[in-house]
Amino acid sequence: MNKLFNIGIAERFSKSNWNEKFLESLNKKIEEGIHFSYEIINIDKSDWLEQIKPYNIIIWKSPWMGQLSNHYKEKIYFIKYFLKKETIPNLDTIWHFESKIAQHFLFKELNIKSPKTFLTFDYREAMEYINQCLYPQILKLSAGSGSNHVKMIKNKRQAKIEIKKHFTKTRTWAYLRKISDHQMFGSVYLQEFIPNNDSDLRITTIGDKYAFGFWRKNRKNDFRASGSGKIDFNRKVPEDMIKYCLDISKKLNFDSMAYDILFEDNKALITEISYGYNHEVIYNTPGYYENLSNNEINFKQGHYWPEYLWVEWLFEKFKIY
Ligand SMILES: Nc1ncnc2c1ncn2[C@@H]1O[C@H](COP(=O)(O)OP(=O)(O)O)[C@@H](O)[C@H]1O
Ligand SMILES: [Mg+2]
Repeated sequence: MNKLFNIGIAERFSKSNWNEKFLESLNKKIEEGIHFSYEIINIDKSDWLEQIKPYNIIIWKSPWMGQLSNHYKEKIYFIKYFLKKETIPNLDTIWHFESKIAQHFLFKELNIKSPKTFLTFDYREAMEYINQCLYPQILKLSAGSGSNHVKMIKNKRQAKIEIKKHFTKTRTWAYLRKISDHQMFGSVYLQEFIPNNDSDLRITTIGDKYAFGFWRKNRKNDFRASGSGKIDFNRKVPEDMIKYCLDISKKLNFDSMAYDILFEDNKALITEISYGYNHEVIYNTPGYYENLSNNEINFKQGHYWPEYLWVEWLFEKFKIY
């Protein structure tokens, strides 16, 4: 006997309209004879707690980036631990979204190769670091996308000016009376510069089973690729990198994740992870990679929306047949 699954699609009227594609994919499942019910619910409304009640799985895609995405993290935490319901994407996928700081903890603890990063909330330690580190350094704000808050720091003088901007004094009156350094409040995230990359590799996984890959070229006379819009669908995507990212997604229980990758000689370094990606670029790739049960990778040619594979993943994950 089939368990009855009630799937709620969290409604968001955003331009990109992931919901339309979720709906099409769910309808296809019904046509295939799979038993479940679904409804669109609006989890942004004041009555969201009542709306969400009948559903045991909620599939959603937040259009919010930046600070607002934190409210979604709170909501997903609450849905998981207090309402005891499943979400796609789950909390493991989203808790570090828009936080390069949180991602740095993950990379460090789990030995995920990434550029050497210095992160501190201690002003004095930051000032000491910039006295002895090698330059250039790449300074990043924790939140941000499209390279908007990624900057090259060429020397100690520039680093000093930038770090002062990243820390504020806790009290203005104290500042006027010349406060001590330990009253400075803020954080700094500095990364070694990885040279000789004219592009970065973007691999997007869905569950531990599906992946898309493409390269993004740097802006003209710039070391930054993210947000350049110069997508290269023709350059070969290394299959070992597909496997590598799928393995990380499996280990960390990610429902979907886009990995930004640079190379130092042949060593791959992950600079950032995010589930908040553009679905049109994914659709425009020449196809997707599937991790088969014998651990081989199969390439499926054609244009596919990621939403279709999110739904495939949902049904596999919760064993809805
Ligand atoms: N440590 C680094 N060394 C060299 N280039 C980097 C480094 N970190 C990032 N980049 C370049 O800058 C771009 C933006 O950095 P990223 O950390 O992905 O921030 P964003 O959140 O803006 O996408 C990347 O696409 C990459 O091309
Ligand atoms: Mg990036």
